[in-house]
Amino acid sequence: MHSFSENLKFFRQFLRSPKMVGSVIPTSRQAIDALLSEVDWSKADVFVEYGPGVGTFTYPILKRLRPDARLIAIDTCRDFIDHLGASAKDPRLTLVHGSASDVKDILEKYAPGQQANYVLSGLPFSTLPEGVGDDIVAATAQSLAPDGAFLIYQYSRFVVPMLRRHFTDVRSRRHWVNIPPCYLITARQG
Ligand SMILES: C[S@@+](CC[C@H](N)C(=O)[O-])C[C@H]1O[C@@H](n2cnc3c(N)ncnc32)[C@H](O)[C@@H]1O
Repeated sequence: MHSFSENLKFFRQFLRSPKMVGSVIPTSRQAIDALLSEVDWSKADVFVEYGPGVGTFTYPILKRLRPDARLIAIDTCRDFIDHLGASAKDPRLTLVHGSASDVKDILEKYAPGQQANYVLSGLPFSTLPEGVGDDIVAATAQSLAPDGAFLIYQYSRFVVPMLRRHFTDVRSRRHWVNIPPCYLITARQG
C-alpha cells in the first residue's frame, strides 16, 4: 500500500510525462498478487523490473525473492529512482536510471554472464515513442534464460502482437480488480 505522498509523487510524474508514466495511480494489490503468482521463486535468481515507479511491484517482489537472488529495477525517471534509492534499502536491489531498451547492457554490467529468469514490465507500451516498445520486447527476449518469462501488466492488448513476434507462447487475461481493469500477460519461449 502506498503512502499519500507516494501516490502524489506518482500523479505529479504523470502530469509531467503522461506518455512515459501512462497511468494516474499505481497498480492494485490484487493485480500485483495475480501477476506474481506466475513466478517460481526457486528459479528466480535474476529478476528484472521495468518501470518500478514508486515501487508498487518492487516491494512485493523483494518480499518474495530469495535472500541470494537479485532484483535489477530500471526506470527512465530520475525522481522515481532517487525516491526508491532513499526508501528501499535492500542489498538484493540494484536501481538503474536508464531505459529498458538497454537491458542487455544493463545485465552485462550488473549481472555479468547471467540471463534474467523473470522480467516484469509496467511500461505503458501503447504510448512509448515509435519503435521503442518493439526494441524493448526484442531485447527482453534476448536477455531471458530459455525457461524464463516476461510478465506484463497493461491497460490494453496493444503489446500482444509485438510479443508474438519474439515469443512463441503469449497468454493474456483480464484482471478486473484494478483502476482501470488491466490485462496480465505472460510471454515465454514455448
Ligand atoms: C505505469 S508506470 C508503472 C509504475 C509502477 N510499476 C506501477 O505499477 O504502479 C510506468 C513506469 O515506466 C517508466 N518508464 C517509461 N518508459 C520507460 C523505459 N523506456 N524504460 C524504463 N522505464 C520506463 C516510467 O517512468 C514509470 O515509472
